[in-house]
Amino acid sequence: MIDKKFYITTPIYYPSGKLHIGHAYCTVATDAMARYKRLCGYEVMFLTGTDEHGQKIEDKAREAGVTPQQFVDDIVAAPGGVLDLWKLMNISYDRFIRTTDGYHVEAIQRIFKKMYDKGDIYKGSYKGKYCKPCESFWTESQLRDGKCPDCGREVMDAEEEAYFFRASKYAGQVRELLLNTDFLEPKSRVHEMVNNFIDCEGGLQDLCVSRTSFTWGVPVDFDPGHVVYVWLDALFNYMTALGYQNEKYNDVEKFWPADAHFVGKEIVRFHAIYWPAFLMSMELPLPKKVYGHGWLNFNGDKMSKSKGNVVDPHLLSERYGVDALRFFLLRSFPFGSDGNFTNELLIQTINNDLANDLGNLVSRTTAMAEKYFGGTLPGGGQADPALDDSLISLAGGLRCRYEEQMEKFQFQNALEEVFKVIQRANKYIDENAPWALAKDMEANGPRLARVLYNLLETVRICAVLLTPFMPASCDRIFAQIGAGGDARGWDSAAQWGVLPASVPVSKGENLFPRIDMAKELSELDAIMEEAQKAALPALEVEPFIGEQVDFDTFCKSDFRAVKVKSCENVRKSDKLLKFILDDGTGTDRQILSGIAKWYKPEELVGKTLVAIVNLPPRKMMGRESQGMLISAVHTEQGEEVLHLLMVDDAIPAGAKLC
Ligand code: ME8
Repeated sequence: MIDKKFYITTPIYYPSGKLHIGHAYCTVATDAMARYKRLCGYEVMFLTGTDEHGQKIEDKAREAGVTPQQFVDDIVAAPGGVLDLWKLMNISYDRFIRTTDGYHVEAIQRIFKKMYDKGDIYKGSYKGKYCKPCESFWTESQLRDGKCPDCGREVMDAEEEAYFFRASKYAGQVRELLLNTDFLEPKSRVHEMVNNFIDCEGGLQDLCVSRTSFTWGVPVDFDPGHVVYVWLDALFNYMTALGYQNEKYNDVEKFWPADAHFVGKEIVRFHAIYWPAFLMSMELPLPKKVYGHGWLNFNGDKMSKSKGNVVDPHLLSERYGVDALRFFLLRSFPFGSDGNFTNELLIQTINNDLANDLGNLVSRTTAMAEKYFGGTLPGGGQADPALDDSLISLAGGLRCRYEEQMEKFQFQNALEEVFKVIQRANKYIDENAPWALAKDMEANGPRLARVLYNLLETVRICAVLLTPFMPASCDRIFAQIGAGGDARGWDSAAQWGVLPASVPVSKGENLFPRIDMAKELSELDAIMEEAQKAALPALEVEPFIGEQVDFDTFCKSDFRAVKVKSCENVRKSDKLLKFILDDGTGTDRQILSGIAKWYKPEELVGKTLVAIVNLPPRKMMGRESQGMLISAVHTEQGEEVLHLLMVDDAIPAGAKLC
């Protein structure tokens, strides 16, 4: 018996800011898959949600001056938030989990305890140095002169308690799973996982699964002070949302194991290594598939809020329509690889595929049915196998070719198959020249009726198969071509001749209006420029010292151009660089400068800098510094930024600055 249940998930999103087109990409793909499976007659569970714990959220909430719960509520549930975005994008999820939901929190506590009782979670510690006044842990190599790098005081030996998951115990089993099954796809990701994380030096390491340095997480109920590591908390959402270890739902039997987890490539590691290991520990069945999709870049660059180049799905949906955007995402990029989003590609795809190919086919066909037959085709009609058969066989076999690609999550290829048929149908119009046939309706009426009927059937089959991608537009197409109930179903997509011979047709509004490329590009560029300006960090400049110095005092400061002969890190110091400088005197000058955070020594060799050379010599880390290098300093987003003052190489070493 075929299992007619299908459970599919998206990653649960961090509500640390607004979601962008990259997030929408995975959700739209999952939605298309869920709709496709429903179309095929499956009972589908489509889960999505938000991953709301962790230090990042706690920090962001503090910055915003609200509680972490208020912070996530605002991003998830407030107008314009995650829930609204999925509604706008017509995402047909069946369940939405928030990891702050009470039932999930309790379930995680039970799961953690079970793993602990089994011995798969054990208490360990991070060993290191501790500065009591600063309450900070340091590693040996971070210390300065054996002392706290922040306050310079003595440190003590210390350990921070943490719980660890015995991932190492499951390394062999996970390795087998990855190498000898189809658990992880695309296959290209398998070796990366095995080589980098299992077959690496030291093998798969146990994973730290609790934290004590912040509180926004699921508390470990048997050990106050610890919160559960956010990935353990997050990964189990796929089961708690079905009712695992809680009473809220009762769908584990029905839907577990999941048929597919769709996840972005950077989180494949968690899903392909730790997630199965956790499940092995809990003695639970493993999901059937983890599919690691690629990333969407923007104009060849990684999308990032700080670059101001994140693409806003709200904006694009408003301008071009939700279906056009959904379609574009899955038509333009192979799901398993990275894709480069550009505004040109978006507009080109909408114009070529939707306005020209699909939109034209539907509008020409329905317009001709109205014009030549008043909207109702006469029954019968006259076939012409020489002209009709290739279209009929191409459209008739489409479902099979489409299904083959959809079952492999190859959305782009499935759409390619549909569009081959659409393009063939447009060619069929030209081959049959209905406008010429219409010149003599008495002689050619039956042939014309059959040509239009064949076109309507082709449109119908394509629309059935496009429904998972563009549900609202396909409903409009069905209404225009008079396809109701069964004629919209999966079975009908493999049958020819489903529409009644005298089907009523009505040309509706244009489905996908053509976009003026030049105008749109300039408007989108302007919007992006604004976003980039807004993303520029606010500079904070040191306040000016009001106090004045007299001219003679100022003139006593001896500033010189100095050329860097060599530069190196000072041993046991993470701040200091040691410079040997040519100051024009013929004798090397040594200056120590606390700028290692901003520069690598090798970057500076050969540069001409500015130094004040008549300060009294000073000892730093046992070495003498004969002066000070001049730099420019400001603060950006709370971080100090420093640039050494560099001057033109034409200025010789020793030149006096005045
Ligand atoms: O990773 N292109 O959440 P998240 C394609 N909370 N996909 C992208 C993308 C881009 N430019 N940017 C992000 C998390 N994504 C965890 C998941 S699941 C138990 C926990 C994808 O909000 C990214 O690859 O940072 C990931 O799959 C998803 O968006 C959520 O990212």
